[in-house]
Amino acid sequence: MEQIDIIGQVFAGKVGRILIREKSGQELELGDLLVVENKRDHLILQVNDLIYGSQIPQGIRELATGLKLEGYGAGLDFLEPQLRNYVIAQVKAVASVRGVDIRIPKTLPSFFSSLRIIKNKDLAFLTKPSDPIYIGKVRSGSKVLEVNVYLNGNEVLTHHVLIPATTGRGKSNLVKVMLWSILGFSKFGLLILDPHDEYFGRHEKGLKDHPTAKENLVYYSSTPPVGANTLVINLKSIKPWHFDGIVSFTQAQDEAIGLYFRQYKENWIENIVRGIEVEGVSDRTLTVLRRKFDNILGVYMDDRGNFQCRTEVFSNKAGEATTKDIVRALESGKTVVIDTSRLLDEAELLIGSIVCNEIFHRYQRYKSQGELEEKPIVSVVIEEAPRVLGSHVIEAAGENIYSTIAREGRKFRVGLIAITQLTSLIPRTVLANINTKIILGNEMAIERHAIIESAAQDLSDDDRTIASLDKGEAIVSSNFTKFAIPIQIPLFEELITKLSTTKKQRRKFVG
Ligand SMILES: Nc1ncnc2c1ncn2[C@@H]1O[C@H](COP(=O)(O)OP(=O)(O)OP(=O)(O)O)[C@@H](O)[C@H]1O
Ligand SMILES: [Mg+2]
Repeated sequence: MEQIDIIGQVFAGKVGRILIREKSGQELELGDLLVVENKRDHLILQVNDLIYGSQIPQGIRELATGLKLEGYGAGLDFLEPQLRNYVIAQVKAVASVRGVDIRIPKTLPSFFSSLRIIKNKDLAFLTKPSDPIYIGKVRSGSKVLEVNVYLNGNEVLTHHVLIPATTGRGKSNLVKVMLWSILGFSKFGLLILDPHDEYFGRHEKGLKDHPTAKENLVYYSSTPPVGANTLVINLKSIKPWHFDGIVSFTQAQDEAIGLYFRQYKENWIENIVRGIEVEGVSDRTLTVLRRKFDNILGVYMDDRGNFQCRTEVFSNKAGEATTKDIVRALESGKTVVIDTSRLLDEAELLIGSIVCNEIFHRYQRYKSQGELEEKPIVSVVIEEAPRVLGSHVIEAAGENIYSTIAREGRKFRVGLIAITQLTSLIPRTVLANINTKIILGNEMAIERHAIIESAAQDLSDDDRTIASLDKGEAIVSSNFTKFAIPIQIPLFEELITKLSTTKKQRRKFVG
Protein backbone atom coordinates (compact mmCIF):
# COMPACT_ATOMS: atom_id res chain seq x y z
CA MET A 1 0.00 0.00 0.00
CA GLU A 2 2.58 2.53 1.21
CA GLN A 3 4.49 1.95 -2.01
CA ILE A 4 1.88 3.95 -3.96
CA ASP A 5 2.71 7.13 -2.04
CA ILE A 6 6.42 7.03 -2.66
CA ILE A 7 7.46 10.03 -4.63
CA GLY A 8 11.23 9.73 -4.57
CA GLN A 9 14.30 8.46 -2.82
CA VAL A 10 17.38 10.04 -1.31
CA PHE A 11 20.64 9.22 -3.10
CA ALA A 12 23.12 12.03 -2.32
CA GLY A 13 23.57 15.54 -1.02
CA LYS A 14 24.28 17.32 2.20
CA VAL A 15 22.40 19.22 4.88
CA GLY A 16 20.10 21.74 3.23
CA ARG A 17 20.75 20.23 -0.19
CA ILE A 18 19.59 16.70 -0.16
CA LEU A 19 19.26 15.15 -3.60
CA ILE A 20 16.42 12.83 -4.34
CA ARG A 21 15.46 11.03 -7.47
CA GLU A 22 11.86 11.57 -8.46
CA LYS A 23 9.76 8.52 -9.14
CA SER A 24 8.76 8.74 -12.77
CA GLY A 25 5.49 10.52 -13.46
CA GLN A 26 5.32 12.24 -10.06
CA GLU A 27 5.96 15.77 -11.35
CA LEU A 28 7.41 17.34 -8.25
CA GLU A 29 7.03 21.09 -8.02
CA LEU A 30 9.19 23.78 -6.49
CA GLY A 31 7.99 24.26 -2.94
CA ASP A 32 6.46 20.78 -2.60
CA LEU A 33 6.46 19.44 0.93
CA LEU A 34 7.63 15.87 1.35
CA VAL A 35 7.91 13.56 4.32
CA VAL A 36 10.38 10.94 5.44
CA GLU A 37 8.95 8.72 8.13
CA ASN A 38 11.29 7.53 10.82
CA LYS A 39 10.50 5.26 13.70
CA ARG A 40 10.05 7.96 16.29
CA ASP A 41 9.49 11.10 14.30
CA HIS A 42 8.92 12.38 10.82
CA LEU A 43 10.92 14.81 8.81
CA ILE A 44 9.31 17.46 6.62
CA LEU A 45 11.32 18.44 3.59
CA GLN A 46 10.77 20.99 0.88
CA VAL A 47 11.77 20.99 -2.77
CA ASN A 48 13.86 24.01 -3.67
CA ASP A 49 15.30 23.02 -7.02
CA LEU A 50 14.70 20.60 -9.87
CA ILE A 51 17.35 19.29 -12.22
CA TYR A 52 17.46 16.71 -15.04
CA GLY A 53 19.33 13.55 -14.35
CA SER A 54 20.47 10.94 -16.84
CA GLN A 55 22.62 7.87 -17.06
CA ILE A 56 23.40 8.64 -20.68
CA PRO A 57 26.32 10.93 -21.53
CA GLN A 58 25.22 14.39 -22.61
CA GLY A 59 26.87 14.11 -26.05
CA ILE A 60 24.70 11.13 -26.89
CA ARG A 61 21.58 12.87 -25.65
CA GLU A 62 22.40 15.91 -27.77
CA LEU A 63 22.95 13.73 -30.79
CA ALA A 64 19.71 11.85 -30.25
CA THR A 65 17.62 15.02 -29.84
CA GLY A 66 19.31 16.38 -32.99
CA LEU A 67 18.36 13.30 -34.96
CA LYS A 68 14.77 13.62 -33.85
CA LEU A 69 14.58 17.38 -34.46
CA GLU A 70 16.06 17.18 -37.91
CA GLY A 71 13.74 14.38 -38.94
CA TYR A 72 16.09 11.39 -38.90
CA GLY A 73 13.61 9.12 -37.26
CA ALA A 74 12.52 8.59 -33.70
CA GLY A 75 16.03 8.69 -32.32
CA LEU A 76 14.91 9.26 -28.75
CA ASP A 77 12.96 6.12 -28.18
CA PHE A 78 15.83 3.97 -27.03
CA LEU A 79 17.04 6.73 -24.69
CA GLU A 80 13.81 7.49 -22.97
CA PRO A 81 13.17 4.65 -20.57
CA GLN A 82 12.45 6.01 -17.12
CA LEU A 83 15.31 4.18 -15.56
CA ARG A 84 17.88 6.13 -17.54
CA ASN A 85 16.38 9.62 -17.49
CA TYR A 86 14.69 11.20 -14.53
CA VAL A 87 14.27 14.32 -12.49
CA ILE A 88 16.44 15.11 -9.50
CA ALA A 89 14.96 17.28 -6.83
CA GLN A 90 17.06 19.21 -4.38
CA VAL A 91 15.28 19.26 -1.06
CA LYS A 92 15.86 20.76 2.34
CA ALA A 93 14.69 19.33 5.62
CA VAL A 94 12.63 22.07 7.26
CA ALA A 95 11.21 20.46 10.36
CA SER A 96 11.61 17.38 12.46
CA VAL A 97 8.34 16.49 14.12
CA ARG A 98 7.81 14.30 17.13
CA GLY A 99 4.25 14.69 18.35
CA VAL A 100 3.89 18.36 19.15
CA ASP A 101 7.61 18.84 19.46
CA ILE A 102 8.96 20.55 16.35
CA ARG A 103 12.65 21.03 15.84
CA ILE A 104 15.05 22.33 13.28
CA PRO A 105 16.48 19.15 11.71
CA LYS A 106 20.10 18.57 12.58
CA THR A 107 20.60 15.20 10.95
CA LEU A 108 20.26 13.88 7.44
CA PRO A 109 17.53 11.40 6.62
CA SER A 110 19.05 7.97 6.27
CA PHE A 111 20.60 7.14 2.93
CA PHE A 112 18.08 5.87 0.35
CA SER A 113 15.14 6.96 2.51
CA SER A 114 11.85 6.97 0.67
CA LEU A 115 9.85 10.15 0.56
CA ARG A 116 6.15 10.62 0.24
CA ILE A 117 4.05 13.69 -0.38
CA ILE A 118 2.84 15.45 2.75
CA LYS A 119 -0.59 14.71 4.23
CA ASN A 120 -2.77 16.86 6.46
CA LYS A 121 -2.04 14.73 9.49
CA ASP A 122 1.69 15.37 9.21
CA LEU A 123 0.92 18.98 10.09
CA ALA A 124 -1.29 18.25 13.07
CA PHE A 125 1.10 20.32 15.20
CA LEU A 126 -0.12 23.49 13.49
CA THR A 127 -2.85 24.16 15.99
CA LYS A 128 -5.04 27.21 16.34
CA PRO A 129 -3.36 29.67 18.75
CA SER A 130 -5.14 31.96 21.15
CA ASP A 131 -6.16 35.21 19.44
CA PRO A 132 -5.84 33.61 16.01
CA ILE A 133 -5.36 35.68 12.89
CA TYR A 134 -6.27 33.53 9.91
CA ILE A 135 -3.96 33.87 6.93
CA GLY A 136 -4.73 30.86 4.76
CA LYS A 137 -3.96 27.19 4.30
CA VAL A 138 -0.72 25.27 4.06
CA ARG A 139 0.49 24.92 0.53
CA SER A 140 2.71 22.24 -0.93
CA GLY A 141 4.00 23.66 -4.21
CA SER A 142 0.79 24.92 -5.75
CA LYS A 143 -1.40 22.31 -4.04
CA VAL A 144 -3.44 23.51 -1.10
CA LEU A 145 -3.77 21.32 1.97
CA GLU A 146 -6.77 21.35 4.28
CA VAL A 147 -4.68 22.72 7.12
CA ASN A 148 -5.45 26.21 8.36
CA VAL A 149 -2.66 28.57 9.29
CA TYR A 150 -3.16 31.16 12.01
CA LEU A 151 -0.82 33.65 13.55
CA ASN A 152 -1.00 34.38 17.23
CA GLY A 153 -2.20 37.98 17.30
CA ASN A 154 -0.67 38.72 20.67
CA GLU A 155 2.81 37.73 19.61
CA VAL A 156 2.80 38.79 16.03
CA LEU A 157 1.21 42.23 16.20
CA THR A 158 3.58 43.70 18.78
CA HIS A 159 6.63 42.34 17.00
CA HIS A 160 5.67 43.84 13.66
CA VAL A 161 4.79 42.25 10.35
CA LEU A 162 6.38 42.87 6.96
CA ILE A 163 4.48 42.08 3.77
CA PRO A 164 6.91 42.29 0.89
CA ALA A 165 5.98 41.58 -2.75
CA THR A 166 6.06 42.90 -6.26
CA THR A 167 2.97 44.82 -7.28
CA GLY A 168 -0.20 42.82 -7.83
CA ARG A 169 0.85 39.68 -5.93
CA GLY A 170 -1.80 40.06 -3.28
CA LYS A 171 -0.48 42.25 -0.46
CA SER A 172 -3.68 44.22 0.00
CA ASN A 173 -5.76 41.08 -0.26
CA LEU A 174 -3.69 39.51 2.52
CA VAL A 175 -4.12 42.54 4.75
CA LYS A 176 -7.88 42.37 4.21
CA VAL A 177 -7.89 38.70 5.14
CA MET A 178 -5.88 39.43 8.29
CA LEU A 179 -8.05 42.38 9.26
CA TRP A 180 -11.13 40.23 8.92
CA SER A 181 -9.93 38.11 11.87
CA ILE A 182 -8.62 41.07 13.82
CA LEU A 183 -11.88 43.01 13.58
CA GLY A 184 -13.57 40.47 15.80
CA PHE A 185 -11.12 41.01 18.69
CA SER A 186 -11.42 43.94 21.01
CA LYS A 187 -7.90 43.35 22.29
CA PHE A 188 -6.35 44.67 19.09
CA GLY A 189 -6.69 48.25 17.88
CA LEU A 190 -5.75 48.70 14.23
CA LEU A 191 -4.97 51.92 12.45
CA ILE A 192 -5.01 51.66 8.68
CA LEU A 193 -3.73 54.46 6.51
CA ASP A 194 -5.40 53.57 3.26
CA PRO A 195 -4.05 55.51 0.27
CA HIS A 196 -6.10 53.45 -2.19
CA ASP A 197 -9.33 53.47 -0.21
CA GLU A 198 -9.54 49.71 -0.66
CA TYR A 199 -10.08 48.29 2.82
CA PHE A 200 -13.43 49.67 3.91
CA GLY A 201 -15.14 48.42 0.75
CA ARG A 202 -17.04 51.48 -0.29
CA HIS A 203 -18.01 50.06 -3.68
CA GLU A 204 -17.10 46.42 -3.23
CA LYS A 205 -16.76 43.84 -0.50
CA GLY A 206 -14.60 45.01 2.35
CA LEU A 207 -14.29 45.34 6.10
CA LYS A 208 -17.66 47.07 6.29
CA ASP A 209 -19.23 43.66 5.59
CA HIS A 210 -17.83 42.15 8.78
CA PRO A 211 -20.53 41.02 11.21
CA THR A 212 -19.07 43.26 13.93
CA ALA A 213 -18.28 46.22 11.67
CA LYS A 214 -20.97 48.33 13.24
CA GLU A 215 -19.34 48.22 16.66
CA ASN A 216 -15.72 47.68 15.77
CA LEU A 217 -14.98 49.49 12.53
CA VAL A 218 -14.52 53.23 12.25
CA TYR A 219 -14.05 54.81 8.84
CA TYR A 220 -12.79 58.30 8.12
CA SER A 221 -12.86 59.83 4.68
CA SER A 222 -12.82 63.31 3.17
CA THR A 223 -15.77 62.11 1.10
CA PRO A 224 -17.58 59.92 3.63
CA PRO A 225 -20.47 57.68 2.67
CA VAL A 226 -23.59 57.96 4.82
CA GLY A 227 -22.89 57.08 8.41
CA ALA A 228 -19.09 57.37 8.17
CA ASN A 229 -16.92 60.09 9.67
CA THR A 230 -15.58 63.09 7.84
CA LEU A 231 -11.83 63.29 7.92
CA VAL A 232 -11.11 66.77 9.21
CA ILE A 233 -8.12 67.45 11.38
CA ASN A 234 -7.92 70.70 13.22
CA LEU A 235 -4.63 72.54 12.83
CA LYS A 236 -4.50 72.84 16.61
CA SER A 237 -3.99 69.07 16.84
CA ILE A 238 -0.73 69.33 14.93
CA LYS A 239 2.43 69.75 16.98
CA PRO A 240 5.83 70.61 15.55
CA TRP A 241 7.23 67.14 16.35
CA HIS A 242 4.55 65.46 14.25
CA PHE A 243 6.54 66.58 11.23
CA ASP A 244 9.73 64.90 12.50
CA GLY A 245 11.24 62.73 9.83
CA ILE A 246 8.28 63.30 7.51
CA VAL A 247 8.79 66.83 6.27
CA SER A 248 12.31 68.23 6.24
CA PHE A 249 12.85 71.71 7.48
CA THR A 250 16.10 73.64 7.43
CA GLN A 251 17.59 74.66 10.73
CA ALA A 252 16.26 78.20 10.28
CA GLN A 253 12.77 76.85 9.58
CA ASP A 254 12.96 74.55 12.58
CA GLU A 255 13.96 77.40 14.82
CA ALA A 256 11.18 79.54 13.43
CA ILE A 257 8.66 76.78 14.11
CA GLY A 258 9.96 76.57 17.67
CA LEU A 259 9.48 80.30 18.14
CA TYR A 260 5.93 80.27 16.77
CA PHE A 261 5.02 77.29 18.88
CA ARG A 262 6.40 78.87 22.01
CA GLN A 263 4.56 82.09 21.36
CA TYR A 264 1.26 80.86 19.96
CA LYS A 265 1.03 77.31 21.31
CA GLU A 266 -1.62 75.34 19.42
CA ASN A 267 -2.27 78.24 17.05
CA TRP A 268 1.27 78.13 15.71
CA ILE A 269 0.40 76.92 12.21
CA GLU A 270 -2.46 79.34 11.78
CA ASN A 271 -0.23 82.28 12.74
CA ILE A 272 2.49 81.21 10.37
CA VAL A 273 -0.04 80.89 7.56
CA ARG A 274 -1.50 84.26 8.41
CA GLY A 275 2.00 85.66 8.07
CA ILE A 276 2.05 87.13 11.58
CA GLU A 277 5.59 88.26 12.21
CA VAL A 278 7.63 86.99 15.10
CA GLU A 279 10.90 88.39 16.25
CA GLY A 280 13.86 86.35 15.14
CA VAL A 281 12.15 84.89 12.07
CA SER A 282 13.18 86.31 8.71
CA ASP A 283 10.62 87.16 6.03
CA ARG A 284 12.20 84.63 3.78
CA THR A 285 11.85 81.78 6.29
CA LEU A 286 8.27 82.76 6.97
CA THR A 287 7.47 82.79 3.25
CA VAL A 288 8.96 79.35 2.74
CA LEU A 289 7.09 77.93 5.73
CA ARG A 290 3.82 79.37 4.47
CA ARG A 291 4.44 77.79 1.10
CA LYS A 292 5.23 74.44 2.70
CA PHE A 293 2.06 74.44 4.78
CA ASP A 294 0.12 75.43 1.70
CA ASN A 295 1.58 72.47 -0.19
CA ILE A 296 1.22 69.87 2.51
CA LEU A 297 -1.88 70.94 4.37
CA GLY A 298 -3.59 73.05 1.73
CA VAL A 299 -3.93 76.03 4.06
CA TYR A 300 -3.31 79.58 2.76
CA MET A 301 -4.54 83.18 2.82
CA ASP A 302 -6.68 84.17 -0.14
CA ASP A 303 -6.49 87.53 -1.95
CA ARG A 304 -9.03 89.05 0.39
CA GLY A 305 -7.01 88.09 3.42
CA ASN A 306 -9.24 85.20 4.48
CA PHE A 307 -7.85 81.96 5.89
CA GLN A 308 -8.60 79.10 3.51
CA CYS A 309 -8.37 75.31 3.76
CA ARG A 310 -8.15 73.95 0.25
CA THR A 311 -8.57 70.23 0.95
CA GLU A 312 -10.94 70.62 3.88
CA VAL A 313 -9.00 67.82 5.55
CA PHE A 314 -7.01 70.30 7.59
CA SER A 315 -9.05 73.06 9.10
CA ASN A 316 -8.70 75.92 11.56
CA LYS A 317 -12.34 75.58 12.56
CA ALA A 318 -13.61 71.99 12.44
CA GLY A 319 -12.18 68.66 13.49
CA GLU A 320 -10.91 69.44 16.97
CA ALA A 321 -12.02 66.06 18.29
CA THR A 322 -10.91 63.91 15.35
CA THR A 323 -7.54 62.72 16.55
CA LYS A 324 -8.79 62.22 20.09
CA ASP A 325 -11.69 60.15 18.75
CA ILE A 326 -9.35 58.04 16.64
CA VAL A 327 -7.02 57.43 19.56
CA ARG A 328 -9.95 56.53 21.81
CA ALA A 329 -11.27 54.07 19.22
CA LEU A 330 -7.86 52.41 18.95
CA GLU A 331 -7.52 52.22 22.69
CA SER A 332 -10.81 50.44 22.88
CA GLY A 333 -9.67 47.85 20.38
CA LYS A 334 -11.42 49.09 17.25
CA THR A 335 -10.18 49.12 13.69
CA VAL A 336 -9.86 52.61 12.26
CA VAL A 337 -9.53 52.99 8.50
CA ILE A 338 -8.49 56.39 7.24
CA ASP A 339 -9.10 56.95 3.56
CA THR A 340 -6.14 59.07 2.48
CA SER A 341 -6.70 58.55 -1.22
CA ARG A 342 -7.23 62.25 -1.87
CA LEU A 343 -4.21 63.36 0.10
CA LEU A 344 -0.60 63.84 -0.82
CA ASP A 345 1.92 61.41 0.68
CA GLU A 346 3.16 63.88 3.24
CA ALA A 347 -0.33 64.72 4.45
CA GLU A 348 -1.18 61.04 4.81
CA LEU A 349 2.00 60.33 6.74
CA LEU A 350 1.45 63.40 8.87
CA ILE A 351 -2.04 62.28 9.91
CA GLY A 352 -0.60 58.88 10.78
CA SER A 353 2.17 60.61 12.67
CA ILE A 354 -0.26 62.66 14.76
CA VAL A 355 -2.20 59.57 15.79
CA CYS A 356 0.85 57.35 16.27
CA ASN A 357 2.64 59.94 18.39
CA GLU A 358 -0.38 60.25 20.61
CA ILE A 359 -0.79 56.48 20.97
CA PHE A 360 2.90 55.87 21.49
CA HIS A 361 3.24 58.46 24.19
CA ARG A 362 0.07 57.38 25.95
CA TYR A 363 1.26 53.78 25.91
CA GLN A 364 4.65 54.82 27.26
CA ARG A 365 2.80 56.49 30.10
CA TYR A 366 0.61 53.44 30.72
CA LYS A 367 3.73 51.37 30.95
CA SER A 368 5.30 53.60 33.56
CA GLN A 369 2.03 53.49 35.49
CA GLY A 370 1.87 49.71 35.24
CA GLU A 371 -1.37 49.78 33.23
CA LEU A 372 -0.08 48.74 29.85
CA GLU A 373 -1.06 45.08 30.03
CA GLU A 374 -4.74 46.00 30.23
CA LYS A 375 -4.59 48.00 27.01
CA PRO A 376 -5.26 46.56 23.57
CA ILE A 377 -2.26 46.08 21.33
CA VAL A 378 -2.25 48.80 18.70
CA SER A 379 -0.94 48.02 15.23
CA VAL A 380 -0.51 50.43 12.34
CA VAL A 381 -0.88 49.31 8.74
CA ILE A 382 1.28 51.33 6.41
CA GLU A 383 1.52 50.97 2.63
CA GLU A 384 4.78 51.65 0.81
CA ALA A 385 6.60 51.47 4.11
CA PRO A 386 9.97 52.74 2.78
CA ARG A 387 8.35 56.17 2.66
CA VAL A 388 8.93 56.23 6.41
CA LEU A 389 11.24 53.29 7.10
CA GLY A 390 13.62 53.71 4.15
CA SER A 391 17.27 54.37 5.05
CA HIS A 392 17.36 57.22 2.54
CA VAL A 393 14.41 58.84 4.29
CA ILE A 394 15.76 58.37 7.79
CA GLU A 395 19.19 59.64 6.73
CA ALA A 396 17.77 62.72 5.08
CA ALA A 397 15.04 63.64 7.52
CA GLY A 398 15.86 61.77 10.73
CA GLU A 399 13.81 59.26 12.67
CA ASN A 400 10.03 59.50 12.45
CA ILE A 401 7.39 57.99 14.67
CA TYR A 402 6.98 54.95 12.40
CA SER A 403 10.68 54.08 12.58
CA THR A 404 10.57 54.68 16.32
CA ILE A 405 7.68 52.22 16.59
CA ALA A 406 9.60 49.72 14.47
CA ARG A 407 12.56 49.94 16.84
CA GLU A 408 10.89 50.35 20.20
CA GLY A 409 7.17 49.78 19.80
CA ARG A 410 7.23 46.24 21.06
CA LYS A 411 8.04 47.41 24.58
CA PHE A 412 4.87 49.46 24.53
CA ARG A 413 2.53 47.06 22.71
CA VAL A 414 2.50 49.18 19.56
CA GLY A 415 3.37 47.48 16.27
CA LEU A 416 3.53 48.00 12.53
CA ILE A 417 2.20 46.02 9.60
CA ALA A 418 4.50 47.33 6.91
CA ILE A 419 3.68 46.70 3.27
CA THR A 420 6.35 47.18 0.65
CA GLN A 421 7.56 46.41 -2.82
CA LEU A 422 11.06 47.55 -1.92
CA THR A 423 12.37 45.78 1.14
CA SER A 424 15.94 46.63 0.14
CA LEU A 425 15.35 50.28 1.04
CA ILE A 426 14.61 49.45 4.67
CA PRO A 427 17.71 49.30 6.91
CA ARG A 428 18.67 45.87 8.20
CA THR A 429 18.41 46.97 11.79
CA VAL A 430 14.76 47.82 11.22
CA LEU A 431 14.11 44.62 9.25
CA ALA A 432 15.64 42.59 12.06
CA ASN A 433 13.09 44.10 14.43
CA ILE A 434 10.22 42.98 12.24
CA ASN A 435 9.79 39.45 13.45
CA THR A 436 7.17 38.15 11.05
CA LYS A 437 7.46 38.34 7.29
CA ILE A 438 4.71 37.13 5.02
CA ILE A 439 6.60 36.86 1.78
CA LEU A 440 4.65 36.95 -1.47
CA GLY A 441 6.01 36.62 -4.99
CA ASN A 442 8.90 38.80 -6.03
CA GLU A 443 10.56 39.10 -9.40
CA MET A 444 13.39 41.32 -8.31
CA ALA A 445 16.54 39.56 -7.16
CA ILE A 446 17.72 42.48 -5.01
CA GLU A 447 14.45 42.50 -3.15
CA ARG A 448 14.47 38.76 -2.65
CA HIS A 449 17.96 38.96 -1.20
CA ALA A 450 16.96 41.66 1.24
CA ILE A 451 13.98 39.58 2.34
CA ILE A 452 15.94 36.35 2.61
CA GLU A 453 18.76 38.00 4.57
CA SER A 454 16.38 39.30 7.17
CA ALA A 455 14.09 36.28 7.48
CA ALA A 456 13.64 34.44 10.75
CA GLN A 457 14.53 31.13 9.09
CA ASP A 458 17.32 30.30 6.70
CA LEU A 459 15.70 30.87 3.33
CA SER A 460 18.93 31.05 1.37
CA ASP A 461 17.84 28.15 -0.82
CA ASP A 462 14.38 29.56 -1.41
CA ASP A 463 15.30 32.30 -3.83
CA ARG A 464 13.82 30.49 -6.82
CA THR A 465 10.76 29.48 -4.85
CA ILE A 466 10.04 33.08 -3.87
CA ALA A 467 10.56 34.19 -7.46
CA SER A 468 7.99 31.67 -8.63
CA LEU A 469 5.24 32.41 -6.09
CA ASP A 470 1.95 33.05 -7.79
CA LYS A 471 -0.74 35.51 -6.67
CA GLY A 472 -1.81 34.70 -3.13
CA GLU A 473 0.98 32.17 -2.57
CA ALA A 474 3.27 33.12 0.28
CA ILE A 475 5.86 31.94 2.76
CA VAL A 476 5.46 32.89 6.39
CA SER A 477 8.78 33.32 8.11
CA SER A 478 8.46 34.27 11.73
CA ASN A 479 10.19 33.99 15.06
CA PHE A 480 6.89 32.59 16.19
CA THR A 481 6.68 29.73 13.70
CA LYS A 482 8.94 26.70 13.90
CA PHE A 483 9.66 26.73 10.21
CA ALA A 484 8.90 28.91 7.21
CA ILE A 485 5.38 27.82 6.34
CA PRO A 486 4.27 27.96 2.73
CA ILE A 487 0.68 29.16 2.54
CA GLN A 488 -2.08 29.87 0.09
CA ILE A 489 -3.94 33.03 1.05
CA PRO A 490 -7.63 32.95 0.14
CA LEU A 491 -9.11 35.59 -2.09
CA PHE A 492 -10.85 37.94 0.34
CA GLU A 493 -14.16 38.06 -1.52
CA GLU A 494 -14.33 34.26 -1.68
CA LEU A 495 -13.35 33.87 1.95
CA ILE A 496 -16.07 36.10 3.27
CA THR A 497 -18.73 34.62 1.00
CA LYS A 498 -17.73 31.18 2.22
CA LEU A 499 -17.73 32.26 5.85
CA SER A 500 -21.17 33.82 5.58
CA THR A 501 -22.71 30.82 3.83
CA THR A 502 -21.29 28.34 6.32
CA LYS A 503 -22.62 30.52 9.09
CA LYS A 504 -26.06 30.59 7.49
CA GLN A 505 -25.99 26.84 7.03
CA ARG A 506 -25.00 26.36 10.64
CA ARG A 507 -27.83 28.58 11.77
CA LYS A 508 -30.29 26.68 9.62
CA PHE A 509 -29.02 23.44 11.01
CA VAL A 510 -29.28 24.57 14.60
CA GLY A 511 -32.60 26.34 14.38
N1 LIG B 1 -4.95 35.14 -2.52
C1 LIG B 1 -5.35 35.42 -3.75
N2 LIG B 1 -5.94 34.50 -4.50
C2 LIG B 1 -6.35 34.78 -5.75
N3 LIG B 1 -6.19 35.97 -6.35
C3 LIG B 1 -5.61 36.94 -5.67
C4 LIG B 1 -5.15 36.73 -4.33
N4 LIG B 1 -4.60 37.87 -3.89
C5 LIG B 1 -4.72 38.75 -4.88
N5 LIG B 1 -5.32 38.22 -5.96
C6 LIG B 1 -5.64 38.89 -7.21
O1 LIG B 1 -4.61 39.80 -7.53
C7 LIG B 1 -5.10 41.13 -7.62
C8 LIG B 1 -4.11 42.08 -6.99
O2 LIG B 1 -4.08 41.85 -5.61
P1 LIG B 1 -3.72 42.99 -4.58
O3 LIG B 1 -4.39 44.25 -4.91
O4 LIG B 1 -3.95 42.42 -3.23
O5 LIG B 1 -2.17 43.12 -4.88
P2 LIG B 1 -1.11 44.11 -4.25
O6 LIG B 1 0.11 43.31 -4.01
O7 LIG B 1 -1.72 44.82 -3.10
O8 LIG B 1 -0.84 45.11 -5.44
P3 LIG B 1 -0.33 46.64 -5.39
O9 LIG B 1 1.16 46.57 -5.27
O10 LIG B 1 -0.78 47.18 -6.68
O11 LIG B 1 -0.96 47.29 -4.20
C9 LIG B 1 -6.45 41.11 -6.89
O12 LIG B 1 -7.34 42.01 -7.47
C10 LIG B 1 -6.92 39.70 -7.06
O13 LIG B 1 -7.67 39.56 -8.22
MG1 LIG C 1 -2.02 46.81 -2.66
